[in-house]
Amino acid sequence: MSKVRGIKTILEARPTIEGAGVRLKRVFGYHEKELMDPFLLLDHFGSDNPEDYLKGFPWHPHRGIETITYMIEGKVEHEDSMGNEGAINSGDVQWMTAGSGIIHQEMPKGFEGTMMGFQLWANLPKSNKMMHPRYQEIKSSEIPVIERDDGARVRIICGNLDGTCGPVSEIVTDPEYMDVTVSAGKEFTHSVKEGHTVFAYVFEGEGYFDQKRDTIIHTGQLVLYEDGDQIVVKAGEKQLRFLLVSGMPIGEPIAWYGPIVMNNREELELAFEEYRAGTFVKHD
Ligand code: FE2
Repeated sequence: MSKVRGIKTILEARPTIEGAGVRLKRVFGYHEKELMDPFLLLDHFGSDNPEDYLKGFPWHPHRGIETITYMIEGKVEHEDSMGNEGAINSGDVQWMTAGSGIIHQEMPKGFEGTMMGFQLWANLPKSNKMMHPRYQEIKSSEIPVIERDDGARVRIICGNLDGTCGPVSEIVTDPEYMDVTVSAGKEFTHSVKEGHTVFAYVFEGEGYFDQKRDTIIHTGQLVLYEDGDQIVVKAGEKQLRFLLVSGMPIGEPIAWYGPIVMNNREELELAFEEYRAGTFVKHD
């Protein structure tokens, strides 16, 4: 018998400044790292004023994590220590496994209208923290879209819906990452793995995310689910759109400073020493 997940807690995105002065909303971060395991951070950037984002995220290192950038609208140019160079455009995804270390920059470009996107950080277990860095870059046209008869439209970036798999694969924490739109008043149900951390972040409209339906969840709020093997969502009076993300908890100690996340203080100190000494990048 299936068990529909209830809501464990609701988080509220809050304004913050990151990089060289980018105004964005942090949905969760350092203080929620145990609660959200294996996920570390979710930033929601969105503005119609280029001043808020043009300063970007100049050269910085990452080690021990994956960063997943999903652009709804706009363009981010990137370059890295492996010699990669490119752009993430509207609807595209960049799934970067930093592993042993990468130094990169991520620079949003001026955009007519409202620029909007997300960056999620997923932790790596001890056994994979020093793995070879890699990218999975997915163009918008490569992301399958499922349109259900009951008024749900889902872009599958990673994971499986109704037998269709997203293009991102072989990720250690067995994640799902979907962009779900539900028409006003309609319902969306989805099977999720028991024991996995599952959250939904609303970025358009509002809706109910459990079966009690006594609390409506608004744009800018995140629902973290209790355990179970199914979720049931119902849109409010307007169209609802949210990110649906799940992953297997790692359950290891977390030593985190800035863009580097390891298991203990010694590993963290070594990473910063290597960065200063110019020996940070192990694979290029
Ligand atoms: Fe970065």
